[in-house]
Amino acid sequence: MRNRFSSHIKFYASLCVFSLLAITIAAFAGAGEVYDKLDQAAVDARSGKVEQAQATLTSLLKDKATTVMAGYELGLIHYENGEVEKAMPFFKDALSAAFPGPASGKDEQALTALLHQEADAARIRYELGVICQSQGKQDQAAKLFRDGLNIISSKGATYVGVKKCKSCHFKQWNSWRKTEMAKAFESLKPGVKSEEKTKLKFDPNKDYTKDATCLGCHTSGFGIPGGYIVPADGDAEAQNQAKDNAGVTCEGCHGPGSKANEIQEEIKENKRPYKFAELRAVGFHKAGVRSCTPCHNTSDPGKEPGYHFAYEEKRKEKEAQHENIELKYRQD
Ligand code: HEC
Ligand code: HEC
Ligand code: HEC
Ligand code: HEC
Repeated sequence: MRNRFSSHIKFYASLCVFSLLAITIAAFAGAGEVYDKLDQAAVDARSGKVEQAQATLTSLLKDKATTVMAGYELGLIHYENGEVEKAMPFFKDALSAAFPGPASGKDEQALTALLHQEADAARIRYELGVICQSQGKQDQAAKLFRDGLNIISSKGATYVGVKKCKSCHFKQWNSWRKTEMAKAFESLKPGVKSEEKTKLKFDPNKDYTKDATCLGCHTSGFGIPGGYIVPADGDAEAQNQAKDNAGVTCEGCHGPGSKANEIQEEIKENKRPYKFAELRAVGFHKAGVRSCTPCHNTSDPGKEPGYHFAYEEKRKEKEAQHENIELKYRQD
């Protein structure tokens, strides 16, 4: 009797494990397909196929599961073109779909004080953006909306800083650190790149290292939990956080790593195969044109209106490279 009972338990337990595994795989396959569509549309939009991308994204808007991310991507296409007015309705609709309930009622000062905390980071930016918009501060509102949606797309992952990545990817780090992008924060200091600054009509003697209009692209994760912050004098913790996110770091292109790193650590320990969708589901980006254009766009004060980022050529430049090591465990 006891034996039959325990074999029953074993049978049901294995059935359970099996179906859990099947559900997990199905969930990743489903999520993977949705990400593939979103990612492909995002790439199309930046490779001359804008209308095709907009059509795909507009159809994804109708599906509850993808409303928020499709709205974000639709808004971003305009935003990166300098069309803030056109981006706003997409951003705002996406955020109101993400947060359908009533606003918290907190005022501007209270919301601003909460900008550095992780909890409710997206919602705080949404509510503050609505206030800024009502005051006519359109650019500031758009930035807050974009950051809020960026945080939602990161699935709760935060920036961990370049030192963490270095500990497992030394070769990529050692070649990355020599690139102009790694040193992008240095360019904001007075007396650095003076000739280039003069050409770009910046003041070569001015200190731009605390200027929010520059930090968004010359650091990583500025305005996002765990990312670059302007450190107060004597605040050692903030100074470390700033140092770890200065310049275009690994996460600037690959996405915030707090959650992906947990998975990567486990992959390393178990030497197990994985698919990229696993990392994508916790905020990692697919490295490609979509990871460059948040910075290489017309809101760069050095760019002329109508500027287009020529990804294929730029990607080949030495400055956009780090040493590539063949992946051992990735299966797709
Ligand atoms: C504990 C070790 C560890 C840490 C820390 C770590 N990684 Fe990884 N990472 C791995 C392993 C293991 C893989 C899989 C490698 C393979 O397949 O050979 C990986 C894969 C990757 C990939 C390839 C993803 C793909 O499938 O295309 C990228 C990109 C990456 N890591 C970036 C980062 C970044 C950025 C950081 C810092 C935020 C980071 N890693 C931190 C261990 C780590
Ligand atoms: C977080 C913002 C950011 C991201 C993301 C980013 N870049 Fe950059 N990039 C910069 C900045 C800022 C510079 C200028 C660095 C300096 O000289 O101070 C730069 C410089 C460069 C340069 C050298 C100057 C030039 O235009 O020839 C290349 C090439 C480049 N980036 C390519 C890329 C590619 C390809 C990607 C995506 C895979 C990418 N970048 C992602 C901000 C970014
Ligand atoms: C929207 C993103 C963005 C913003 C905002 C931004 N930059 Fe840049 N910056 C870039 C990129 C991208 C490059 C690389 C140049 C290129 O594309 O050829 C760059 C390059 C530079 C360079 C190096 C130029 C060279 O020829 O080597 C300097 C200096 C610079 N930026 C200063 C600033 C200052 C100062 C501010 C703020 C007033 C600022 N940037 C704001 C994206 C940005
Ligand atoms: C300017 C953008 C950019 C930055 C900054 C960047 N990467 Fe990458 N990374 C890429 C691109 C693009 C690929 C190639 C993706 C592909 O072809 O599938 C890549 C590939 C990788 C891979 C996959 C394996 C390999 O070596 O090709 C790892 C791991 C990785 N990066 C880690 C890092 C780490 C760690 C840093 C920081 C020290 C970093 N990356 C900084 C753009 C970037």
